[in-house]
Amino acid sequence: MSISFSSDGEEKIVTSTSFQPEDAAEGSLRPRTLDEYIGQEKAKENLRIFIQAAKLRGEALDHVLLHGPPGLGKTTLAGIIANEMGVNLRITSGPSIEKAGDLAALLTNLQENDILFVDEIHRLDRAVEEVLYPAMEDFVIDIIIGKGPSANSIRLDLPHFTLIGATTRSGQLTAPLRDRFGVTLRLELYTPEELARIVTRSAGILGIEIEPEGAREIASRSRGTPRIANRMLRRVRDFAQVTAGGVITRAVANDALLRLDVDRDGLDALDRRMLRAIIDYYGGGPVGLETLAATINEEAVTLEDVYEPYLMQQGYLTRTPRGRCVTRKAFEHLGLEFHGQESMEL
Ligand code: ADE
Repeated sequence: MSISFSSDGEEKIVTSTSFQPEDAAEGSLRPRTLDEYIGQEKAKENLRIFIQAAKLRGEALDHVLLHGPPGLGKTTLAGIIANEMGVNLRITSGPSIEKAGDLAALLTNLQENDILFVDEIHRLDRAVEEVLYPAMEDFVIDIIIGKGPSANSIRLDLPHFTLIGATTRSGQLTAPLRDRFGVTLRLELYTPEELARIVTRSAGILGIEIEPEGAREIASRSRGTPRIANRMLRRVRDFAQVTAGGVITRAVANDALLRLDVDRDGLDALDRRMLRAIIDYYGGGPVGLETLAATINEEAVTLEDVYEPYLMQQGYLTRTPRGRCVTRKAFEHLGLEFHGQESMEL
C-alpha cells in the first residue's frame, strides 16, 4: 500500500506495495516544511529557490530526481515539496506500477501542478517507462486501443505535473529517463550533529525527555540515517521508561544499544559479519559482491545499498575493480591483527 498526502498533510491509503510499517511509525516524526527539515543543506537550499521560482511563475516545479542511500528522507522531502508548493502528492513505487495502464490511470487523475512521487524508480517496467517519456516532456500520453492492424492510438493531454523520482541506484536509471529530470539532488549520509538534532526534535514530538549526551549517543550510532536514528530512539525510549525512570541519558542509550547489538561505533551484527567474512574467508579481500553475499547468505543489493555506504564512509571497507576489501580499521575494530595489504586502504 502507499499513502497519498494531500496538501494539508492529511494522509490517505491508496494502492501499491511500497508502504512499510516503519513508514507509518515515521509519519508523526516527519518534518512538513523545509525550515523544519534538518540537514541536506545543499539540496534544501537549491530546492528552496526552485520552489519559490515555480510558485512565482505559477507553474509546476520541474521534475526532480532524488538519489542516495535508503532512509535519508526522500519520501519526507517529497511531502515537504508538495506542502511548500501547496499541491497534492500521490505516492507510488516503480515495482507497483505493473502495466502502462496503471501509470496512465495515475497520471490522468492528477490535478494541475500536482506531484507524483515514484519511489524505487529504477525498478519501473520498461513499457511503463516509455509512457513516462512524453508525459514528462510534453504532458501527454498515447493510449493504444485495440490490437493488431486495427489498433488505434489516441493522445490525451495531461495536467502539468511534477514527477519526483527516488532511487538508491541512479546508475541503474536509463539515460532517457535520467535526462528528463530538470533537477537532480543527491542526498548524503547525515553528520552525527545533524542526527542529534533530529533525535532531539523527535524526542520532543514523542514526549520523552532526553539529555544532549543521550541524543549524541544515539546519533553517532545510527549509520548516518534518520530512519535508523528514529527507530533506535523508540527502542531506547522503551528501555528508559521500563528500567531508568523515563529519561534518556547517555548511559541508558549506550546500554540499550548494546543490548540491540549495535556496537560503540554504530556497526550492527550484519556489518560485523560482513567484515569478518571478508577477513576469514578472503584474507581481507578483494572479493566480489555476489560471492560475499552468498557467503553470508544475504542479498547483494542489500549489502550494496544498505550496508556498504556507511562502511565505506567510515573507512572500514573499500570498493576496488577486483572486489571489496576491508581496511586496517576493520581488523582493529574486530580486535584482529592486521594481515591485509596496506595498498588496500587507498
Ligand atoms: N525526521 C526524519 N528526518 C528528518 C530530518 N531530515 N529533519 C528533521 N526531522 C526528521
